[in-house]
Amino acid sequence: MPSPAPSIAVCADPPTDRALLTAAARLSVDLNLPLIKKPRKTGYDLLLVAATGRLELRVLRGPNRGGHAICADLTKLDTTSNAGRSLRQPIVKAVGWKRRADPPPTIIDATAGFGEDAWLLAALGCPVLAVERHPLIATLLRDALLRAAPDHPNIIARIALINTDARAMLRRLPPRGSKAQPTSDIPDDLRRFWQPNVVYLDPMFPTGRKTAERKPMRVLRTLVGDDDDAGRLLDAALRVATRRVVVKRPAKAAPLNDLKPTTAHGGKAARYDVYAVG
Ligand SMILES: C[S@@+](CC[C@H](N)C(=O)[O-])C[C@H]1O[C@@H](n2cnc3c(N)ncnc32)[C@H](O)[C@@H]1O
Repeated sequence: MPSPAPSIAVCADPPTDRALLTAAARLSVDLNLPLIKKPRKTGYDLLLVAATGRLELRVLRGPNRGGHAICADLTKLDTTSNAGRSLRQPIVKAVGWKRRADPPPTIIDATAGFGEDAWLLAALGCPVLAVERHPLIATLLRDALLRAAPDHPNIIARIALINTDARAMLRRLPPRGSKAQPTSDIPDDLRRFWQPNVVYLDPMFPTGRKTAERKPMRVLRTLVGDDDDAGRLLDAALRVATRRVVVKRPAKAAPLNDLKPTTAHGGKAARYDVYAVG
C-alpha cells in the first residue's frame, strides 16, 4: 500500500514581511495549496515556506520531522575543482563526452528532482533540459535556479526547466532518425532538445535501502512516491535519444527493466547504466 500523500500548506516566514507574504500567496494559488498565516503549530505534515532569500520545505510531522529545512541548493555542488570539472567523472563518462574539443551532448534530464545532476552537466558545458513532474519539486528547483542565476549566468543559459511528465513529453518528440522538424509551438529554448543526444534518467532508487537515504531524498519520496513507472520512461527514452540513454541505479541493483546495458560506469554509491543507440 503506498503511503498517503503528506498534507502541505504554504506560509511566509517572517509572516509580517509583505514581499514574502506576496510570494507565499502566489505559490498558494499556483500550486493550489492552502495559505496559512503563521509558520508554527499547524495541522500539516509539510510547510512550503517563503523564507528570506529562499524557498524551503519544513517537515512538521512524521519520521522525518525536525532538523534542517529542505531546499534545492545548486551552488553547494563542486563544479570548479579539478575533480568537479573532470570529464572522467562516472556521470560524464556515462553521457559519452570524452574530449573538451568535442561538442558537448545535448541532454534531456527526464527526472530532474532537485537538479543536482542537471546542474553538474550544465556546469561542464552540456545544454540540459530538466524535466520534473512534481509541481512542488519543480517549484523548489526553479527557485534554486533563480538564486544561482546572478552568479552563474553561463550555466543558467544552458538549462531549461519544465514541469511536466517526461514520458508524455518524450512521446511528442520524433523517433530517432526522423526528419521531422520542430513544430512552431515549440519555444526557441526547447528546440535544441528536439533530437536529444542523451536522455538521462535517475528515478527514485528501489525501496529497501531507505535507512541509507539522506533526509532530502526521504522527504522527496514522501512527495513523489517510488517512480514505479520508470521502466516505461526508459522505453520512451530509448525511442528518441540519438546516441545513448543513461540510467542511474544503486551500485548493486539489477538494471531497470532487467535490460542489459551496453556498458556501465560505477560511482561510490551509484552505477550509471549506458544504453548506446543509433
Ligand atoms: C531521485 S530524484 C532525481 C534526483 C536528481 N537526479 C538530482 O540530481 O537531484 C527523481 C525525480 O524524478 C522525478 N520523476 C520521476 N519520473 C518522472 C517523469 N516521468 N517525468 C518527470 N519527472 C519524473 C520525480 O518526481 C523525482 O523528483
